[in-house]
Amino acid sequence: MSDIFSGSDLQTGEYSEALASLIADLNAVVPEARKAISAAADRKAIEQLRVQFLGKKGRITKLNQRLGKLSGEERPVAGKLLNTQRTEITALLEKRTAELEVRELESRIAEEAVDVTLPGIRPARGGLHPVTRVTREIEEIFRSMGFRLESGPEVETEWLNFDALNMPEDHPARDMQDTFYTERGHVLRTHTSPTQLRSMLAAKPPLAVITTGKVYRHDSDATHSPMFHQMEGFLVDEAISMGHLKGVLHEFLRALYGPDVRTRFRPSFFPFTEPSAEVDIWFEARGGWMEVLGCGMIHPAVLRNGGIDPERYSGFAFGLGIDRMTCIKFGIPDLRLLFENDLRFLRQFQG
Ligand code: DAH
Repeated sequence: MSDIFSGSDLQTGEYSEALASLIADLNAVVPEARKAISAAADRKAIEQLRVQFLGKKGRITKLNQRLGKLSGEERPVAGKLLNTQRTEITALLEKRTAELEVRELESRIAEEAVDVTLPGIRPARGGLHPVTRVTREIEEIFRSMGFRLESGPEVETEWLNFDALNMPEDHPARDMQDTFYTERGHVLRTHTSPTQLRSMLAAKPPLAVITTGKVYRHDSDATHSPMFHQMEGFLVDEAISMGHLKGVLHEFLRALYGPDVRTRFRPSFFPFTEPSAEVDIWFEARGGWMEVLGCGMIHPAVLRNGGIDPERYSGFAFGLGIDRMTCIKFGIPDLRLLFENDLRFLRQFQG
């Protein structure tokens, strides 16, 4: 590295020993400062170097103090020289500081960088209960056939749950269902049939209505649960026959289970229908028939209780067990699995 000062600035061509030694010291200090500054690793090191070279007791400052020993002629020349070097060192410190700031920023950006290509953490997702899925499917099938959906209360009057459905107090059919009684005159509905009457009392025929919901009976084993789900449907208009009933139910069962579903219609008895029938479906998982549906032509007494003239109108009704239909659809061998809320079981139906 070349010296920073040549005598050419001085006109005399001769300079004092004091100036010569000042220049020699300066020549030693400046390259050292340059080297140290370019090696400084962080801003703390920069600050130390600033103090070391330019501070009150810094090496350049100390050289400055020696200007007093110079002649009036040499002093401004040496002063200018020291100032130039001070300015240069200041500029180097600033430049290095800026470089370090950029480097710090870059490393912070690198550190904080988010890899957007990493796979995310999926929040656990719930799914619909199989009974809910089948309920919605059933509702959709009937909706597409023109039925509208209505609902009724789970705490029902005894009148609508039994009497209005042609099951008076002393009627033996009342023993068919083990009832949970609530406050006087009310029960936990034992079936969804009372909503037939609610719908009839609320509107005039033609009526095509379905209801889905919870019902309650004092009963519990592999094929019975104290709370279970039913769907009720009925249709009332002029000249409705058993043929309409069979047509609608066949259409429904094929829509839910596919064209190969095996079904069996059996004559049966219900107080609120005459004639009555039951439908069984072949349940592969248990290797047997499973009763899922009761149906029939609505009894004239029931129509009358619903404010409908049985001379002019006729209708059919049907009630089915959604839980059993769910078991058949998915091959679930035990009804109780549906009510245990075991996630290992339920996760199989997430869709
Ligand atoms: N309510 C009956 C039950 O829970 C099912 C039923 C049978 C409903 C025949 C009907 C029907 O609408 O016509 O066992």
